[in-house]
Amino acid sequence: MRRIHTFSAMVLLVTLFLIFFYSTLHLETTYSRRAGPEDLLKHLSLQVHDSDVKAQSSKPESVTRPHPDVHNVSVSDGLRQTIPQNRAYWNRLLYLVLRKLDEGRTPLRPDSHWSRCRETNQELLQTNVHDFTSYPALFQDFLQGMNCRSSPVLINQPSKCISGEGEGANRTFLLFAIKSTPGNFEQRQAVRETWGREGVYQRGLRVRTVFLLGNSPPDDPDLNPLLSFEAQHFGDLLQWDFQESLLNLTLKMNMFLQWTLKHCPRVNFVFSGDDDVFVNTPALLSYLQSLKASKASRLYVGHVISTANPLRDPNIKYYIPLSFYDGPYPAYAGGGGFLISGVLLKPLYSVSRVIPFFPIDDVYTGMCAKALGVSPEAHAGFQTFDVKAQDRENLCVHKDLILIHQRSPPQMKKLWKGIHSPLLTC
Ligand SMILES: *[C@@H]1O[C@H](CO)[C@@H](O)[C@H](O)[C@H]1NC(C)=O
Ligand SMILES: *[C@@H]1O[C@H](CO)[C@@H](O)[C@H](O)[C@H]1NC(C)=O
Repeated sequence: MRRIHTFSAMVLLVTLFLIFFYSTLHLETTYSRRAGPEDLLKHLSLQVHDSDVKAQSSKPESVTRPHPDVHNVSVSDGLRQTIPQNRAYWNRLLYLVLRKLDEGRTPLRPDSHWSRCRETNQELLQTNVHDFTSYPALFQDFLQGMNCRSSPVLINQPSKCISGEGEGANRTFLLFAIKSTPGNFEQRQAVRETWGREGVYQRGLRVRTVFLLGNSPPDDPDLNPLLSFEAQHFGDLLQWDFQESLLNLTLKMNMFLQWTLKHCPRVNFVFSGDDDVFVNTPALLSYLQSLKASKASRLYVGHVISTANPLRDPNIKYYIPLSFYDGPYPAYAGGGGFLISGVLLKPLYSVSRVIPFFPIDDVYTGMCAKALGVSPEAHAGFQTFDVKAQDRENLCVHKDLILIHQRSPPQMKKLWKGIHSPLLTC
């Protein structure tokens, strides 16, 4: 009888031990499954703030400390109304961010070091984008670098906006931020000699100019000695250590925003444009001066493209795969040249910290503006698609316009001289 008792006690003990062992095992599996969502976030190229992870695994109510840059980011409903929630990769990334913002959490774009930000694990991208391998090589390249947002500076102009003499020398009314490429020496010189000339214009308005450059491809001739000379001589080049490419223009714009917030934070207006457009600077300044304060503080004006959709032909320059982005574009001002208020730069930059990079720079600016609830305003003086063929030599037509698309350096000089000629009566 006693043996039976001992035996039952042993069985009970073993059972208890097994139950205990099993539940520990189970806990472990649940725990490792818990890590899942964080993995997915990594797949989706989003980093969760450290304190977020802690909050999740301990008490959900523990306070998360927002990153200073994304402190007050909120995204307008307008963005959700324009960009649908669906299976496309970019749309998923966006809605992941929006969900976290709604939960009062801080979705942070990774601030990872430049040398480590590129996604080297192709499997991650292939898992999340089912036809990733069918994307054009450049597009694949873009996706791998989508989180790279802190390119080293190669050529800087830290005192661009605090130089000059006399009263108001430190003020910059208008900053020309001109997208150029290392080899475009002639275009830059034509801009300097014409519409991009720095100095004090009518009514003491100070204009400054910077050209935004990346790097030439490694196999191209080495232009660096020429660029250093040019930068020293003119003091208007900014160069970052990323490769020039159409799909790196969003990065270029973002680096420029960072630069301006640091080195030219009190600028009144920024004109962002290409180095092959023609700008009627006096007309532009008169327009800016005529603005009411309420408008001047929320200005985003240019040639507005209000009902564009992604182009789906892989042979086209601006091709966007359907599995990457699905939906229309928000209204945006064409990147050939548009104006933006200086006070909008900081909110724009903050919101760009949570909105995933999009490969087309002007569309991306439109998305960020939409997120802020700022709509682009059309202005008939911005002709980013050029004027009618019969008007291209007509100086009076040009005198009334603010921006005209694509002029060669000699044409630029001729036009500039023409619209300033005292002989011209329009
Ligand atoms: C402009 O700013 C610099 C640096 O802050 C300062 O040294 C200089 O005196 C200022 N110049 C004028 C004219 O205000
Ligand atoms: C953008 O620049 C990075 C850094 O130089 C480069 O690795 C990448 O290939 C460029 N992206 C594209 C799409 O060319």
